[in-house]
Amino acid sequence: MNLFQLNLYPGLVHSILWQLRDPQIQKDRLRFKFNLERLGFLLAAELAKTLPVHQVEVHTVLGSTKIEVPTQPPVLVTILRAGLAFYQGFANAFDQADSGFIGAYRVEGDRAEQLEIRMNYAALPDLTGRDLILIDPMLATGGSLLKVWQLIATQANPRSVHVVAAIAAPEGVEALRQHLPEHSYLWLGALDQYLNEQAYIVPGLGDAGDLCFGPK
Ligand code: PRP
Ligand code: URA
Repeated sequence: MNLFQLNLYPGLVHSILWQLRDPQIQKDRLRFKFNLERLGFLLAAELAKTLPVHQVEVHTVLGSTKIEVPTQPPVLVTILRAGLAFYQGFANAFDQADSGFIGAYRVEGDRAEQLEIRMNYAALPDLTGRDLILIDPMLATGGSLLKVWQLIATQANPRSVHVVAAIAAPEGVEALRQHLPEHSYLWLGALDQYLNEQAYIVPGLGDAGDLCFGPK
């Protein structure tokens, strides 16, 4: 698995991450979601550099020019709930992409070992031969993403697999490294320090789903 951390535009990315993490600023739900969307767009712009393109000629009213456009738009697959705002940044960048949605959530106990992932909804386009972008802002244990990947892998064989997260823990990165296909890509806004006893990312930002939509 190839790991990329977003280190272009550091002033902009760090400012977004600061606003996402700061307890006072993240209380503003609309701003929190908008910041996830902005970070998603920046990650999408980086990732887009690796997707296949072909040349087309554009005829304007005054002349013509050759430009490179994506050969085929990627497929965006998002894990609900917290993925929604982050997804919007990718949907803005890949405006012709097909999209899939999966409902998955952690059932938490007092300790990380009791963590269980439940999946209750899946709407997936055909992924055969397509570039797949799996979108979830938080990569903690990696359990949610791997459960979703297991479902996808039983149905289709994508051409490439890109996982994107705003913030990840090293434990989640390692889990993906062990279980995703070798030629997968992981794109991160930030790689944090560790998981606490409840499997939350430290320093992280807290519960992304609750910050977007309120407690459940
Ligand atoms: C969060 C987050 C990821 C998951 C990451 O969702 O959006 O899906 O946790 O944790 P993991 O790597 O240990 O699986 P959560 O289960 O809290 O659901 P929500 O988005 O509905 O709040
Ligand atoms: N889900 C979150 O929203 N935050 C974490 O730190 C871990 C899982």
